[in-house]
Amino acid sequence: MQAQKYFIIDFDSTFTKVEAFDVLASITLKDHPEKLDKINQVVEITNRGMSGELSFRESLEQRLRIIAPEKRHLPELIKELKQLVSDSFKRNKDFFQKWAPNIYVISNGFKEFIEPVVTEYGIIPENIFANTFVFNKDGKVIGFDTNNPLSANNGKVEQIRKLNLPGDVYVIGDGYTDYEIKHSGLANKFFAFTENVERASVTSKADHITPSLDEFLFLNKLNTAISYPKNRIQVLLLENVHPVAVQLFRSEGFHVETYSAAMTEDELAECIKNVSVLGIRSKTMVSQKVLEQAGRLMAIGAFCIGTNQIDLKAATKKGVAVFNAPFSNTRSVVEMAIALMIVLIRNIVEKSNKMHQGIWDKSAKGSFEVRGKKLGIVGYGNIGSQLSVIAESLGMQVLYYDREEKLALGNATKCKRLSDLFEQADIISMHVDGRAANENMIQAEAFKKMKDGVIFINLSRGHIVDIKALRDAVLSGKVAGCAVDVFPYEPVSNNEEFISELRGLPNTILTPHIGGSTLEAQENIGNFVPARLMEYINTGCTSNSVNLPNLTLPELENAHRLIHMHHNVPGILAKINQVLASHGINIAGQYLKTNEDIGYVITDINKEYNKEVISELRSIEQTIKFRILY
Ligand code: NAI
Repeated sequence: MQAQKYFIIDFDSTFTKVEAFDVLASITLKDHPEKLDKINQVVEITNRGMSGELSFRESLEQRLRIIAPEKRHLPELIKELKQLVSDSFKRNKDFFQKWAPNIYVISNGFKEFIEPVVTEYGIIPENIFANTFVFNKDGKVIGFDTNNPLSANNGKVEQIRKLNLPGDVYVIGDGYTDYEIKHSGLANKFFAFTENVERASVTSKADHITPSLDEFLFLNKLNTAISYPKNRIQVLLLENVHPVAVQLFRSEGFHVETYSAAMTEDELAECIKNVSVLGIRSKTMVSQKVLEQAGRLMAIGAFCIGTNQIDLKAATKKGVAVFNAPFSNTRSVVEMAIALMIVLIRNIVEKSNKMHQGIWDKSAKGSFEVRGKKLGIVGYGNIGSQLSVIAESLGMQVLYYDREEKLALGNATKCKRLSDLFEQADIISMHVDGRAANENMIQAEAFKKMKDGVIFINLSRGHIVDIKALRDAVLSGKVAGCAVDVFPYEPVSNNEEFISELRGLPNTILTPHIGGSTLEAQENIGNFVPARLMEYINTGCTSNSVNLPNLTLPELENAHRLIHMHHNVPGILAKINQVLASHGINIAGQYLKTNEDIGYVITDINKEYNKEVISELRSIEQTIKFRILY
């Protein structure tokens, strides 16, 4: 027969994210002139006690002297602590309820505030062992019950010895006193809990380090469903993605590794083996060879707009979802387009260049306002349409041409043909995407159709313009000013010389592909991409995925979600439903979407299911990936 299992759980910085005394201090010292100083003293004494530097009773006495708590402070403390229960404890309430008779909260803190917090999770009051305050008649704390073993050094050990638990004892805690239980021989294992704090003196002694309760439950096969702790999900972020992304993944409990540069194909193929989520920017090539090694990969986040660097076909075949940041830098490009058109139409570049040569050339010749001018926008997507709105607010008349039917915003006028736009526009701004068919879409013929003295701006893709034709148009005066941010060939690093026929042309602004490069855009991308990746992992939602069928899903409530991805062949949905029906499983909701290659089926089922169902669903032919959320 298997031995009974008992769980000893620490309170401060384990059950709750904080040390209760620190919170208590911030309440009692709220209006004290030396509040900060005193709170720091309390934190320091706590840490010294935790790391074993200071005896427990000394630490307790010293802290109480500084904090000077009273009965009236307790309700506020309890309220705050209830909000500060550790995240992984909050999401594993089931465990506490299921194992209640075997769970003990043993703490050197005080029962007066511990009990109201932990009993909400189903902990039995008789299984809570902690100190108790001694109050005077005015409700001031004047000490603690010194007969309680937990008020003395080695208190937890003594308390557990008294309990005389008849089975295996597992201790979870963040402090040295928790380790002492194992050291005394009273516990089988000590799990250092590092979700809130990590103390080297404690983790170095632990049997296991558990960054969350999920990990503890997983290690001990105690989870109520087939879940996988997030700290075991490896996220690899390359190319210096914005720190906000790193922080977002870490705060969700993922195991994150970062690398500041891009990786070569071989390096990545080696590193990718245990990675579940990969984050890259534009320089890392995720090739078929890399994907072949990526046995655990669920999703790739491109922290940029383009996804050419990823073999999307191969990713789709493997059921790896790819997300990018299609509009995180839209506004940055739009602002630059507006700035450029004003600078060009006022001939400011020439004027500025002359000033640097000492030439004062004050005249209005060749300088115009943008107000009232016709702006022709080619490509009315995210950027083009946003530019339309802002240009109108400057008093411009907007014409646009898009190969697809697009809603005209404000008073913008749609052109039936591109040539209609060329013939009317005073300023032309290119915002088409980089599809191969757009190569050289602007050639000598196109420039011929444009008005004399047109301003031409390309912030989209380099290969869409025939550079020689543009050069001729500028030199002939057809184009009065141009701005180009993107080029058919762009230097691969800042060390490479930029070579182009456009260098040295009059009223020509050249910029090194920086249309979307602002700190705001980088931060937007850093927020946007992890949000999509985590939404996909946590809910199965694929909206905004570049390669998987886009499914937006309702929130999962009181159900399990089965996520099934398969090659797009007929009859799979029927097979899934046959399996569910044969086990009498109630379907709460079902969503299916397919694209050319893949079928994506989400089935929400009521709580009851057995493991056979899972293995049958997994073994349906043509299955690419299957996972469960609960
Ligand atoms: P988007 O995909 O939202 O819009 C592109 C639009 O162009 C679509 O509406 C599409 O139907 C249209 N289009 C494609 N080919 C066309 C054609 N031949 N004729 C007419 N319309 C055509 O893309 P978004 O986000 O607006 O980006 C536009 C361009 O800006 C992209 O090429 C992108 O790579 C580039 N970009 C450049 C940046 C920079 O740093 N300079 C930063 C961000 C984007």
